[in-house]
Amino acid sequence: MAHIIGSLMTSHVPAIGGAIARGVQGEPYWKPFFDGFDAVHEWVNHERPDVVVVFYNDHGLNFFLDTLPTFAVGAAPEYRNADEGWGLPVSRPFPGMPELSWHLIESLVADEFDVTMCQEMRVDHGFTIPLSLLWPGKGPWPVKTVPIAINTVQHPLPTAARCLKLGQSVGRAITAYPEDIKVLILGTGGLSHQLDGTRAGFINKEFDRLCMEKLVHEPLALTRFSNRRIIELAGSQGIEILMWIAARSAMTGRVERIHSNYHIPISNTATGVLLLENRVAAQDRVAAAK
Ligand code: DHB
Ligand code: FE
Repeated sequence: MAHIIGSLMTSHVPAIGGAIARGVQGEPYWKPFFDGFDAVHEWVNHERPDVVVVFYNDHGLNFFLDTLPTFAVGAAPEYRNADEGWGLPVSRPFPGMPELSWHLIESLVADEFDVTMCQEMRVDHGFTIPLSLLWPGKGPWPVKTVPIAINTVQHPLPTAARCLKLGQSVGRAITAYPEDIKVLILGTGGLSHQLDGTRAGFINKEFDRLCMEKLVHEPLALTRFSNRRIIELAGSQGIEILMWIAARSAMTGRVERIHSNYHIPISNTATGVLLLENRVAAQDRVAAAK
């Protein structure tokens, strides 16, 4: 049966992709950010997930204002990136895992999450940058992927409480998947940032720290913030914390913080990375499979 090995939450600023493409990770501006991934690489290379389920927000590449699903699940054999105008190289395609996607979709709909099913889906920097951070280099991607897009573009957006429940539902579905595979959950975006308007450049270290702390053992505490309040506290794009909440909530076992890093700024963003391990006792894994 499938086993969730952990959740990794990370920012997805496009400029990170530019730094990777130029090979400037060691420069003073970038080093404190990229150094935050050494421990992540060590853990991921040791744990070797077979598949990553990625909660991310599309920024207008696949969905636009005309048609914006609240929750969309990819069910394609492959996901392509495209030029989003950031000057980044277009990423090589990502292998999908349609059989797991359909299992998640079936399970989510049965659980009253009426998700949009995407048998074709282009993935933007919210998806590509975190995967490039995890697996630098140009070789074939060592994992299969399932993208889950959460709307952060067109109001009304889903609440933190709804995203927490979505994550829980995805977690339950994964643990009921009959194949013996290791699944890593990703949540991408944040932390505090605002890209435009009078508060452009807004960052809130205190709120970011609170989120990174509460996510470890008390994610429910974050559901007391309305989306309006999150935007006040974290900036309009800081609402991407919803992805972190969903990813954290997919964990089914005892949660242990393996690593975290927080660095200001990268571009307009306060960046964070948080790696949580999901410890599930062997007898619980057997019980979940029944
Ligand atoms: C930036 C941050 C984002 O989350 C994003 O989607 C695009 C740009 C930035 O800080 O430049
Ligand atoms: Fe973003």
